[in-house]
Amino acid sequence: MSIASALGICSLLGAAYLYTQDCNMILVDSSQLLTGVPINTGLYFDAHPVGILLAKFIDYLIIKGLKLTDLELIGISMGGQVIGIAGAAIKSGKPAKIMAYDPAGFNHNSYPPDQRLDETDAELVIVIHTDPKVWGYNQSCGHVDFWINSNLDVQPGCTTLEAIFRGATDITDYVACSHVYSYRVGVYAIYHPTAYPALNCTSYDDYANGLCNNNDLQYVGDQVTKSAQGNYYAKAGNEVYNP
Ligand SMILES: *[C@@H]1O[C@H](CO)[C@@H](O)[C@H](O)[C@H]1NC(C)=O
Ligand SMILES: *[C@@H]1O[C@H](CO)[C@@H](O)[C@H](O)[C@H]1NC(C)=O
Repeated sequence: MSIASALGICSLLGAAYLYTQDCNMILVDSSQLLTGVPINTGLYFDAHPVGILLAKFIDYLIIKGLKLTDLELIGISMGGQVIGIAGAAIKSGKPAKIMAYDPAGFNHNSYPPDQRLDETDAELVIVIHTDPKVWGYNQSCGHVDFWINSNLDVQPGCTTLEAIFRGATDITDYVACSHVYSYRVGVYAIYHPTAYPALNCTSYDDYANGLCNNNDLQYVGDQVTKSAQGNYYAKAGNEVYNP
């Protein structure tokens, strides 16, 4: 995804949080550091330099009075990996929450936990997976992993023709539509917190066949209850936020 698109998405997510919650938001523009460091495979960028710098900045904010219990790190795609590195590198402790929207896959799929997002990076790590087969991380990596429509290869509205009819104007909507679908689900869920009930289950098929109807229910989003843990499956459609 292009850095400009990523920044646009950050602004939209940021606006949704600011509109619905009493919080302060800091957007991180990592374009220079991310573009400057192609990783050993040559295929992707390295989350480490940005993550380490972000952790230093957070340690500085903590000296100035920020409480880790008030801190939530939010990231999409590569940003999801960056906040994993950052969460682990904060010297003063762990952030309360990490919310990752389809964290980047590719080389990260085979990285050990300390080189990617994992559940030790915050007190509560929540992940929304929408594109595990192409751009997104392909395994569970949080305390709570939401898997959206994981029976589908392509998310709703995400064929090229559908993107055209939807009037999508961003290149990202064409080359990584199922990937950015994660934040479109996320923004919709911020405005409609009970839009996506999700059930703790062992597979999407079992969930869809009703085998998990008595299991723990959580709503997709970052307002999960403390006891939530495991893989949760949910359905979403074309109602998702349309940029
Ligand atoms: C995830 O990707 C890695 C690397 O390509 C692969 O070895 C692994 O089998 C994949 N896991 C799943 C669950 O798809
Ligand atoms: C969800 O399912 C997993 C695996 O079956 C289980 O370990 C976990 O405790 C369940 N979570 C809740 C909150 O019931």
